[in-house]
Amino acid sequence: MKVPFVDLPRQISGYEQEIRGVLEGVIFQRADFIMRQDLIDFENAFAEFTGVPHAIGVANGSDALNMALKVLGIGPGDEVITVSHTFVATVASIVHAGATPVLVDVADDYNMDVDCLERAISRKTKAIIVVHLNGRVCRMDRVQELAAKHRLFIIEDSAQAIGAMFNGKKSGSMGALSTNSFYPFKVIGCFGDGGAITTSDPELNYRLKCMRDNGQDRAKGEILFWGWNSRLDNLQAAVLTVMMKHLPEIVANRRKIAATYHHGLSSLPGLVLPPPPVEEGHYDVYQNYVIRTQRRDELVKYLNDKQIGTLISWPKPTHHHRALGLTHFSLPNTEAISREVLSLPMHPALSEDEVGYVIDALTKFFH
Ligand SMILES: Cc1ncc(COP(=O)(O)O)c(C=O)c1O
Repeated sequence: MKVPFVDLPRQISGYEQEIRGVLEGVIFQRADFIMRQDLIDFENAFAEFTGVPHAIGVANGSDALNMALKVLGIGPGDEVITVSHTFVATVASIVHAGATPVLVDVADDYNMDVDCLERAISRKTKAIIVVHLNGRVCRMDRVQELAAKHRLFIIEDSAQAIGAMFNGKKSGSMGALSTNSFYPFKVIGCFGDGGAITTSDPELNYRLKCMRDNGQDRAKGEILFWGWNSRLDNLQAAVLTVMMKHLPEIVANRRKIAATYHHGLSSLPGLVLPPPPVEEGHYDVYQNYVIRTQRRDELVKYLNDKQIGTLISWPKPTHHHRALGLTHFSLPNTEAISREVLSLPMHPALSEDEVGYVIDALTKFFH
């Protein structure tokens, strides 16, 4: 048997008829490509799902982060706290804004260690970017408490956590702004690049809708500031509206697979599993099923020989890339994690047999 890490053709084929239908409408019936009704429909559906009044469709998750910092007025002289254990775009947005990144360590669930966050706050701190990694929301109660005490903006990087919840609140509904990515490997992806920002603030919504469109308020014929062309196009928006309808079953499948992995792997010596699907306060969507072992590199080779696909998202932590100028940070847990973690196959079309095959292989390896 061969178990790929993800299987996009299989995942997409389940929605083929619906997607063909919307593409036919956008391309051949209406030729509606930029800033049209499909975008508005998607933004409304996404805002409603997230539980906030506003969503702004943008070109990708990296631009969403860049614009989030810009619209909050963050710039030179400001510090922004985030983690090194994330995709580089999170940290890049701080540098692109002209601000200074302050990197803190992560806890054993791979999300920001809130004690480290507290120690990193200084008089220059303006914002915290919390990353809800692998489909799990960070401990937002403590983050919100600290942000309120020190008057800091919270930006949620929700790129990996659509549908995930903490204490009943959805990822994307707990910060001043939240950014999302619809890169094809995400919990829901589009057919190329795509992203969105969510917010409860009508002024931020207005400014971001102008910012992604070269700073223009088209209705008033006014250019408000220097902006960018970072619009989510109509085709991607139409595809995402279809995927949004299927999000509940996609998340349910991912959680079911995570439960099967948890059940099958929990007694193996030397293997650390992610938190299980049933856990007080958290509702995880398993963008990735990340396991941890000191025998990681040996295990990757073994699984590879068994035709089981795995992913090591960041073999080297962001702050260890010399060209980025962040090597002065020392983050012991982040550094250990980058040597010890790998993600197992995880996508909603994975069959029980495939999951069983992966569990059998891991069981043989650890015994
Ligand atoms: C945590 C995180 N932040 C930001 C991004 C950037 O999103 P995009 O690839 O859509 O620019 C990603 C996507 O890979 C991500 O995983």
